[in-house]
Amino acid sequence: MFGLESIRLIDLPKFPDPRGNLSFIEQENHIPFKIKRTYWIYDVPGGEVRGGHAFKEQQELIVALSGSFDVTVDDGKAMQTFSLNRSYYGLYLPAGLWRQMQNFSTNSLALVLSSTAYQNEDYIHDYNEFLRFRRHGEK
Ligand code: TYD
Repeated sequence: MFGLESIRLIDLPKFPDPRGNLSFIEQENHIPFKIKRTYWIYDVPGGEVRGGHAFKEQQELIVALSGSFDVTVDDGKAMQTFSLNRSYYGLYLPAGLWRQMQNFSTNSLALVLSSTAYQNEDYIHDYNEFLRFRRHGEK
């Protein structure tokens, strides 16, 4: 079971250019997993909260492609909030952490690269179940 110490902000390659900057991500190179799925969250009304669950298996990289938002991560013992507001770094989250996204700015765009296909069974929506999952996994 991974704790908060295993979360990393990953600096992505950046090619600054007067014509506009360019960044990119290669699986198993800049991030430690193969990308099975990509999704993005956009048009978030002010004050809305996304996430609020844990994944048993999914590892992910979250990038603020545009605008800004916060990601609060909880390992069952402690919580930490990361503010994402640049498209040249991402937040790497291993599996088994509770996470929530909030404080989305107007026109923000959150890109999520996932190590798994979408599986409803991978979600833990109940916080107490999450705590049991953490305890069980740490035995
Ligand atoms: P969900 O992951 O619950 O959103 P959030 O964590 O941001 O609150 O997903 C919302 C809905 O979208 C849910 O009904 C399932 C669906 N969905 C897919 O079908 N495929 C996907 O890859 C994702 C991420 C969600």
